[in-house]
Amino acid sequence: MNEPAHLHQNIFHSMIDGVLLVSPSLTIRESNLTVEDMFHRSRDSFLHRGLEELFPRQSHVLDKARNVLTTGACYHDVEAEGARNTPASQFPVNLTLSPFLQSDDSIHGAVVLIKNMSLIRELEERQRPADHLDHLAAVTMGMAHEIRNPLGGIRGSAQLLRQEIANESHREYLDVVVSEVGRIDRMIKRMVDLTRPLDLRMERTNIHKVLKEILMLEKDSLARKRGRFEQTYDPSLPPIEADEDQLKQVFLNLIKNAVEASREEGKIQIVTRVSSGYAIKTAATVSRQNIVVEIIDSGEGMDESAQKKLFTPFYTTKKKGSGLGLAISLKIIEDHHGKIKVTSEKDLGTTVQVFLPLRQK
Ligand SMILES: Nc1ncnc2c1ncn2[C@@H]1O[C@H](COP(=O)(O)OP(=O)(O)O)[C@@H](O)[C@H]1O
Ligand SMILES: [Mg+2]
Repeated sequence: MNEPAHLHQNIFHSMIDGVLLVSPSLTIRESNLTVEDMFHRSRDSFLHRGLEELFPRQSHVLDKARNVLTTGACYHDVEAEGARNTPASQFPVNLTLSPFLQSDDSIHGAVVLIKNMSLIRELEERQRPADHLDHLAAVTMGMAHEIRNPLGGIRGSAQLLRQEIANESHREYLDVVVSEVGRIDRMIKRMVDLTRPLDLRMERTNIHKVLKEILMLEKDSLARKRGRFEQTYDPSLPPIEADEDQLKQVFLNLIKNAVEASREEGKIQIVTRVSSGYAIKTAATVSRQNIVVEIIDSGEGMDESAQKKLFTPFYTTKKKGSGLGLAISLKIIEDHHGKIKVTSEKDLGTTVQVFLPLRQK
């Protein structure tokens, strides 16, 4: 047995990251065992096939591999999606591409190092909104106190002054002062609420009843755009343990957003179903069955950079928006041990999925 070659083989197959060797014609010549694991497929299904077998429809990966082969360039941190066949799905990967050199330094192929980013992404996703809130909590608590005190003074003085003034139109100015002060005060209170753990009143809740009430409220504003709601409900959906009022607030926010994003004659689909495929991972990595409510609009959609800002408090693109709807909704759903997932495509529409555990622990 050739000892160094054996050693290299061992190292090759023991690596936590996937390794591919790609020929100058971009066919996959070699792979380590990790690739099979990561892509849930056997080597036979991709060896001697094109690189696009594992990264379909991703010209940026092929372009970079081609560049490696022709110029000898290296690429780090290339974001891509790996393709699994059964079930058909994609998972995020991070690639490093470098030339595979022969002893005379001529380029013999390309080496592609594949890092599976699924878990990291999932953790990041869980971390991100909470981070925003932690940071906001510190600022809010300090500010709320400092603002609400003088605000009380302004309101009191305006009310006193109003009693002293005989001129009716001048009194109306002071009414504006009082009501606007009230508005600021309510906004600050909402910010404070956002940073506090919610006091949930859990009861058996019929999600269809919640949705029905919200749709009644929002039907007219959608009808003004000559649009309509289309409901696809799973009648066997069991009731869940939840705070009904809080859930109403969530679905009002989400459905309002869908209505606001809708164009003339836009359709909004509301779907309910039971999901077994999606597992919410808790610290103990147990998965539970969830109910899913999907709100699918065919409205203006969002590009990727807009999607990244979702759930950030005060992020809004609307003239009179508060930018708090999604942040508050996420907090309520997370306090119910659920999850919100948004997928969107600019100009095509947005799908918001709300996952709620069938049973609370
Ligand atoms: N269904 C949707 N379609 C397109 N954009 C959306 C949708 N839902 C939310 N958004 C975007 O996210 C932003 C934040 O939403 P939200 O937190 O509810 O605050 P607001 O509705 O007050 O702006 C919106 O201003 C909008 O740009
Ligand atoms: Mg909103």
